[in-house]
Order: sequence, then structure tokens, then C-alpha cells
Amino acid sequence: MTSKRILGGLGLLLGAGLASGQAVAIEGDAERGEAAAGTCVACHQADGGGMNIPGGESWPRLAGLDADYMVKQLHDVKQGSREAPTMMPFVDGLDDQQIADVSAYYSQLPVTDAEGGDVDAEMLARGEQIALRGDWDEYIVSCKSCHGPGNQGVGSTFPGIAGQHAGYIENQLHAWQEGRRANDPQNLMGAIAKRMSDEDISAVAAWLSSQPATDE
Ligand code: HEC
Ligand code: HEC
Repeated sequence: MTSKRILGGLGLLLGAGLASGQAVAIEGDAERGEAAAGTCVACHQADGGGMNIPGGESWPRLAGLDADYMVKQLHDVKQGSREAPTMMPFVDGLDDQQIADVSAYYSQLPVTDAEGGDVDAEMLARGEQIALRGDWDEYIVSCKSCHGPGNQGVGSTFPGIAGQHAGYIENQLHAWQEGRRANDPQNLMGAIAKRMSDEDISAVAAWLSSQPATDE
């Protein structure tokens, strides 16, 4: 893929993102969201920090993530374009307003530390290369080119991935490879994940988990 085609795709994507954002704008209320989040703490924990479970189903940190991004994810899970079998029973019962409320609640919680990525220095360096510079021999674009400076996210379309648990990042890349997650605009992530080896996935997940989620 040439960089020209990627940039063209991004233009379309940003246009589409704005259009759909206007259609589903429901104002969330963090206080109501706290009450509705009572069943979420079993996995995402009381501080929204989630948990890294190496080799298992890691629970993502939700604290400090973009609210509109989480709204989209919860709708995608309900619709099935993102498979999350263990979470589904808890999300299925939420209506649109409750989805906006829980997302508002988690987005204003302070960011917690990420865990995981028990890898050697060589793997970490490989992870840093992929995240910041990509690997043109493997047709892997740098993560930063979409996920933004510091891989800390851009708007509601490109989520922050720095400071997220390594186990969760790995699981998502495998989910895209295997088609269990197919909710990304224009298959942007699916295309990248399918070009990555298991070693590269572990390396980039470990490096990203070692980075700060925000500059604050
Ligand atoms: C049984 C454990 C469990 C419970 C309970 C649970 N979740 Fe999750 N949640 C998960 C897992 C696992 C994932 C990752 C799913 C995947 O692999 O795609 C996830 C992902 C998410 C995401 C996407 C985060 C991202 O960065 O894309 C959001 C948002 C979320 N959960 C919100 C909630 C809310 C709100 C509740 C309560 C109503 C809830 N979860 C209850 C396990 C759980
Ligand atoms: C061409 C743009 C693009 C590039 C390059 C890119 N991503 Fe993404 N990524 C996205 C988009 C868009 C989403 C949100 C998908 C959605 O709406 O569910 C995403 C989501 C993710 C998520 C899920 C985050 C969450 O909390 O749900 C992970 C993990 C991720 N990307 C990892 C990576 C890694 C690692 C790289 C570099 C190897 C990378 N991405 C490169 C566009 C990109």
C-alpha cells in the first residue's frame, strides 16, 4: 500500500467519522454512569484500571479513554461486529443513554498504570521501531501514523494505545487477524494485524504498555 492511498483513506475515514458522530450524539452523564457501571467492576475494576492476564482474557483499562470511542465500542459489541462473549451479557442490557453514561463515567477517571510485556531489550527495541517508525519491508505502517504523537490517540476515531495492558493489545491484534473483531473503519486495523507476526505483536504490545497514556 502506498502512503498516498493510506492518506486518501484517512481523509474518507475522518469525513465518515464526523458524519456518524453527529447522528448518534447523546450526552452522557458521569454520575448516572457510575451507578450503571456496578456490574462492570468485576472485570474492569473499581478504578477502571482493568487487569493484565498473560495468556488469558485481559481486561482493558477504561479509565481516561475517549468517551465517544467507548460508546462506539459498546454499540459494536451489542451488534456483534466486535465479539466479546464474556462481556456481552453485561452490555446487552444497556440502552443508548446508559452506554453514553458509563462511557462518560470511565473517561473522566484518572489513568492507571499498565502492566505486562515481560520481554527482553531486543524485543522492546523491535516494538519501539514498529510503533514509531513501522517496517516498510513488512508493509507495516507505524502505529503512530494513526494513533498520534506518543500513540496517545487522536480524537474519537483513533484510540490511545500507549499505557494499555500488553495482554489486551495482543488479544486485539489477534482478534483482528482471526476476524473476531471487524468493527474498524475501512479494515484499517485488520489489514495491519494480518501482516504482523506473533513476535511483532508481542513486541509492540510490550513496548506500548511501557509508555505513558498521557503527557499530563
Ligand atoms: C466478564 C468481564 C467483563 C465485564 C463484566 C465487563 N467487561 Fe468490558 N471488556 C471485557 C473484555 C474481555 C473486553 C475486551 C473484549 C475484546 O476482546 O474485544 C472488554 C472491553 C470493553 C470496552 C472496550 C475498550 C476498548 O479499549 O476498546 C469497553 C468500553 C467496555 N469493555 C466497557 C464495559 C462496561 C461499561 C461494562 C459494564 C456494563 C463492562 N465492560 C463489563 C470484559 C468485561
Ligand atoms: C491506518 C491507521 C492505523 C494504523 C497505522 C494503526 N491503527 Fe490501530 N486502530 C486504528 C483505528 C481506526 C482503530 C479503532 C478501530 C475501531 O473503531 O474499533 C484502531 C484501534 C486499535 C486498537 C484497539 C484499541 C482499543 O482500546 O480498543 C489497538 C490495540 C491498535 N489499534 C493497535 C495498533 C498497533 C499496535 C498499530 C501499529 C502496529 C496500529 N494500531 C496501527 C487505526 C490504525
